[in-house]
Amino acid sequence: MSSSASVPALRGAPADPNALDPKVWPEGAHRDEAGRLVVGGVDAAALAARFGTPLYVVDEQVARSRAARTRAAFERAAASVGTSVTVYYAGKAFLSGAVVRWMTDEGLAIDVATGGEFAVALAAGAEPARIGFHGNNKSLSEIERAVAAGVGTIIIDSEVEVRRVADAASRAGRVQRVRLRVNSGVHASTHEFLATAHEDQKFGIALPDAARVVADIRSHDSLDFVGLHCHIGSQIFDAAGFAESAERLLSVHAELSAVAPVPELNLGGGFGIAYTEADEPAPIEEIADGIARAVARACERLGVPVPRLAFEPGRSIIGPAGVTLYTVGTVKPVPTDEGWRHYVSVDGGMSDNIRTAMYGAAYTARLASRVSDEPASLVRVVGKHCESGDVVVDHDWIPHDVAPGDLLAVAATGAYCWSLASNYNHVPRPPVVAVSGGVARVIVHGETEEDLLARDAGLSDHDDDAHGVTA
Ligand code: LLP
Repeated sequence: MSSSASVPALRGAPADPNALDPKVWPEGAHRDEAGRLVVGGVDAAALAARFGTPLYVVDEQVARSRAARTRAAFERAAASVGTSVTVYYAGKAFLSGAVVRWMTDEGLAIDVATGGEFAVALAAGAEPARIGFHGNNKSLSEIERAVAAGVGTIIIDSEVEVRRVADAASRAGRVQRVRLRVNSGVHASTHEFLATAHEDQKFGIALPDAARVVADIRSHDSLDFVGLHCHIGSQIFDAAGFAESAERLLSVHAELSAVAPVPELNLGGGFGIAYTEADEPAPIEEIADGIARAVARACERLGVPVPRLAFEPGRSIIGPAGVTLYTVGTVKPVPTDEGWRHYVSVDGGMSDNIRTAMYGAAYTARLASRVSDEPASLVRVVGKHCESGDVVVDHDWIPHDVAPGDLLAVAATGAYCWSLASNYNHVPRPPVVAVSGGVARVIVHGETEEDLLARDAGLSDHDDDAHGVTA
């Protein structure tokens, strides 16, 4: 596996470098008469003035409507093949109390991957029975807390976990519903780091081992096996990989059904979004139909009833709802093999968006505080960190007169930006602001330098010696 991120293919200059491609920007985003970007009815300059930059902005209505549309798409598709579906929101993409409430309001269940995510979901009022708990290395305490809270399902990820969950459930006097995560062997067409169902990686167990592990699960009175689970990767644009994976899973599902009924099949998340105008994800309705049809065909061939389905999208729901606002600090023309490239430095960087450095992700940047008639320049948007790989947008085209003080917006940052944020270089993490109907409110507070200092025991604990441990 390569350890370096890929480099996005160079895109040509857009016809209008001020234009907001509706495929990439949150639905309804537009420019006001002054040329300012408006998201959720609030203009970027007002947001920056009130909350500062960098700033994560999430359009609540877009997040809600994408959740509702996804649920409707899968419900229709499932009904068309005579079954039902649960759509979990994958909290790893971005989880906060407000987001949990939006998702549960829209009828989604919640998928968590750690005790921390579970705690947020519970604190926000998610019904434990509508939470799925993932993780390839859940601690005993995470398992015990999940069981005690009455979590809906635990997704078993390894053979050794069967006994851990079984014992925790029997100690708690419960019968715990569990799924088994398997690798279907399908390589999703996406960045290698994001493809998780091929064999040489840490998640799940190999498909040929599934029958043995399920037999073990079924031998425990404290476990209730509800079905197989597979997640083939992320940022996938069509149904083909899911369909192939479903077919492979269903042959094992059919074998397992010959022993006892298997009510469910969970095909994970991974539906892609447009980060730039070059991305063409299929509409979620088309993907849902494609998967449901493939499931129905395979079940007919195998002579098993169509199971209840479950999916776990994260990015496709919250990603397009988010925009990050930055203030431009410096602009530097740099000669490159492709001609002059302007390095536009902003006041955040890899601490608020690691995806470009980590995955070679491509993004779209636009001036947010104004429009300009100047021709477009090729720019690279970089951050303020002490690292040349600190790139936010590998390349895009923005008006030539971009200057210090301008606000810059980067689109489609709702997923895996805040959730992967760090304090590299002791940069405090920015707040997250939800916008809706012209109103902005903080949904996650930003950090301050005082917050960072307060966690530094060498600075905040004044009688250091008193805390020493002696042998
Ligand atoms: N279910 C499982 C078991 C998963 O592992 C994931 C993502 C999802 C659902 C949700 O996938 P989504 O629909 O959001 O693609 N940090 C990477 C993505 C890592 C995805 C990890 N698992 C990125 O920034 O692209």
